[in-house]
Amino acid sequence: MGSETPSTHIFLVCFPAQGHINPMLRLGKRLAAKGMLVTFSTTENYGKEMRKANNGISEEATPVGAGFIRFEFFPDGLPEDDPKQTDLEYYVPKLELVGKELVTQMIKRHATEGRPVSCVVNNPFIPWVCDVAVELGIPQATLWIQSCAVFSAYYHYNKKTVPFPTEAEPNIDVQLPCMPVLKHDEIPSFLHPSDPFQVLGRAILGQFKKLSKSFYVLMDTFQELEPEIIEHMSQVCIVKPVGPLFKNPKAPKTSVRGDLMKSDDCLDWLNSKPPASVVYISFGSIVHLKQEQVDEIAHGLLSSGVSFLWVLRPPAKAFGLEKHVLPQGLLEEVGDKGKLVQWSPQEQVLGHTSVACFLTHCGWNSSVEALTSGVPVVTFPQWGDQVTNAKFLLDVFGVGLRLSRGMAENRLVMRAEVEKCLLEATVGDKAVELRRNALKWKKAAEEAVAEGASSDRSLEDFLDEISKITS
Ligand code: UDX
Repeated sequence: MGSETPSTHIFLVCFPAQGHINPMLRLGKRLAAKGMLVTFSTTENYGKEMRKANNGISEEATPVGAGFIRFEFFPDGLPEDDPKQTDLEYYVPKLELVGKELVTQMIKRHATEGRPVSCVVNNPFIPWVCDVAVELGIPQATLWIQSCAVFSAYYHYNKKTVPFPTEAEPNIDVQLPCMPVLKHDEIPSFLHPSDPFQVLGRAILGQFKKLSKSFYVLMDTFQELEPEIIEHMSQVCIVKPVGPLFKNPKAPKTSVRGDLMKSDDCLDWLNSKPPASVVYISFGSIVHLKQEQVDEIAHGLLSSGVSFLWVLRPPAKAFGLEKHVLPQGLLEEVGDKGKLVQWSPQEQVLGHTSVACFLTHCGWNSSVEALTSGVPVVTFPQWGDQVTNAKFLLDVFGVGLRLSRGMAENRLVMRAEVEKCLLEATVGDKAVELRRNALKWKKAAEEAVAEGASSDRSLEDFLDEISKITS
């Protein structure tokens, strides 16, 4: 880098999960493109996987637009593939124990090597990063990687400002400010007393206990998508919508990507299909459906006759789960109408004209990527924020059809429902209406990230604030 070393150095510390890595890395590239030096840091085990996927990950500073991005990994103290990495009740505190010291050392070393850190940014599950920054006297911000509506739900739950379901009253509705009433199975499921993963809710709530330490909460949403909720939350902390981060208006040329698996080639196959004819199916990076559910989806697809591109991701070894198989003979019967892949270049897939709709688990990344690519969705949420995202995709944003409501984990959705829903989402009046709405959001998102528009201004404010604090 030499004499061109940018004076502002932003240090991103990311929880090791694909759904966290993608928005954080997108933020890093955006900031680098604006002339910053960005260091992206996560655990070594994750870094190894990212390197294996050959995505331009390097400890050397790689130019991105007017600035640079570099990667630095720290050990989480567990061997690769250790199943304990998937037990968040064990892993989250363990990561804090080892990470706090290592991240402190990394930041101190940057100062002695002549590139002092100007600001530290973390994302959920690692709230201790706020303490590290505060102890070192460095400004700290948080990137919230889910919707502002979900942020509000956690915030109000933590503050106990509105009643949430309890063991005594598990089925009550929740009325949060500036949003439609959420039924008990539409609140982020980790906040429900019957949820088996309440430990994840507690881990996320850890961030809310440190909220006053962050000078900004950056969010992967945009003003026009959640105006009232953003306005409401801005009254309690400095919320800055900077999304959708995956839509980079200038798209600086770089091969840097944070995928954990190499993408299979499916774009040529999509090129061979007519416009708006393919159902894209993916359930993100963690959800693992029951084999019976995979069978039902497969049969539903076959009888619907629609073309499909399906990501059947093998489960990470550490989970110790069985790989899915499709019903025997199904693929032969489908022929060239269907394509199975293990990992797709999802941004490009959703931007492809052949894609008609997206059958999704409604992770926030997938939700925003679909919505702002102009692609309608068929919602199949499993847990966490996905159930709330599904509610908004359907009832607020108007871009989806419901395949299953609330947590789908305990219920089998049958092939006839799959067939009916996919047909309705791909042909006919409803499909046209959903597409029209999705295209409206695509346009709004493009406008939000344009130079000088709402999300871009939020990023500029963020950078101005860093220079004010550090000068
Ligand atoms: C997790 C949680 O499950 C989700 O609820 C939360 O909102 C974010 O963290 P995940 O389940 O992985 O995320 O889903 P999602 O948020 O959709 O993120 C998946 C990411 O992987 C997306 O950015 C998507 O583009 C990418 N992806 C997925 C691919 O690039 N290729 C694929 O084949 C599948």
